[in-house]
Amino acid sequence: MPTTLLHTPGEMSAITRGWRDAHETSALVPTMGALHRGHLALVEAARKISQRVVVSIFVNPLQFGPREDFDQYPRDIEADLDLLNQQGLTDVAFVPDKSQMYPDGHSKTEVLVSSMASVLCGQARPTHFAGVTTVVAKLLNLVQPDFAVFGQKDAQQLAIVKRMVRDLNFPVEIVGVPTVREPSGLALSSRNRYLSAQQKSQAACIYQILSQTHQRFLQGERNSERLEEQAWTQLSEVGLHPEYVSIVDRDSLVPVAGEIRRPATLAVACPVGPARLIDNILLDTGS
Ligand code: PAJ
Repeated sequence: MPTTLLHTPGEMSAITRGWRDAHETSALVPTMGALHRGHLALVEAARKISQRVVVSIFVNPLQFGPREDFDQYPRDIEADLDLLNQQGLTDVAFVPDKSQMYPDGHSKTEVLVSSMASVLCGQARPTHFAGVTTVVAKLLNLVQPDFAVFGQKDAQQLAIVKRMVRDLNFPVEIVGVPTVREPSGLALSSRNRYLSAQQKSQAACIYQILSQTHQRFLQGERNSERLEEQAWTQLSEVGLHPEYVSIVDRDSLVPVAGEIRRPATLAVACPVGPARLIDNILLDTGS
C-alpha cells in the first residue's frame, strides 16, 4: 500500500473524517522524522490495533530550547517516505510545515502537565515537555485517532502524554511500545547519528549498566537509593557523567524513596560526545 503524503491540516482532518464516517479505526504515530527501526516498530504496533495508520513528521520548534539542536536536527523526508513505503503499513504521512502548525510563528496556548514536566529531563530542558504536549494535543485534535502510539524509550514523554489525555479527556487510547535497540543494547535514536564509532560503544554501556541494575533488582535488591548509586558509580567507571540516574514511579514520575513497591522506571540521561542520550528500564514489582 503506497503512503499518501499530506501537508495541510485541512487535508489531514478531511481524510480521517472520511475514515470515521466509514467506521474505520485509526492510529497516529507522532514523530520528528529521521526515521529508524524504532519508529517502524511503532507503526507496526499501530497497524496491529487499527485499520488506518497516520505517521506525522514534524520537527516541532516548541520543544527545543534556545541552545538545543533544532537547526541541526536531521531532516530527510525523502528517506523517511522511502522507509514508510518499503514497510507498507502507513496510510498517510502527515508532513506539515512550521507555518501551517504555527501560523503566527508561535502558539499562545500551552498545554503543560505541571510537576511531571519539571522532573528528570525537565530539569535540563525546562520548556521541552510543554512543547511536546502542546504539539501532541494539536496533532490529536487534527487527526482524532482512536489510538496514538509512543515509544517506551521516552518514558517521561509517554507518562506525561498519558496524563494529559486523562486530565483533558482526549478520546484516544495511548499505547506504549518497547524500546528497539542495536545488538549492542544501544537504544536506537535519531541523535545517534551525532556519535562516532567510539562514542557509540561508550553509549552502549548505558543499557548494559541499566540491565545489570535490573538484574540486582530481580535478585532482591529493592532499595531505590542503593540501586541508583550503584548504577551511577558504574556509569562513572566507564567515563560517563550522567545528568541523572533516577528511579521514579511509572505513572506519576515521583522519585521512589526507600523500598520499591510499585511498578517503577529506572531512567538515565547522559551526555555522550555531542549528544545527550536518554534510556530507561522498567522495574516490575508484579503489583
Ligand atoms: P521522535 O524522537 O521522532 O520519536 C517519535 C516516537 O518514536 C516517540 O514516541 C519515541 O519514543 C519513539 N522512539 C524513538 N526511539 C525509539 C526506539 N529506539 N524504540 C522505540 N520507540 C522509539 O518523540 C518525539 O519524536 C517528539 O517528542 C514527538 C512525540 C513527535 C512530539 O514532537
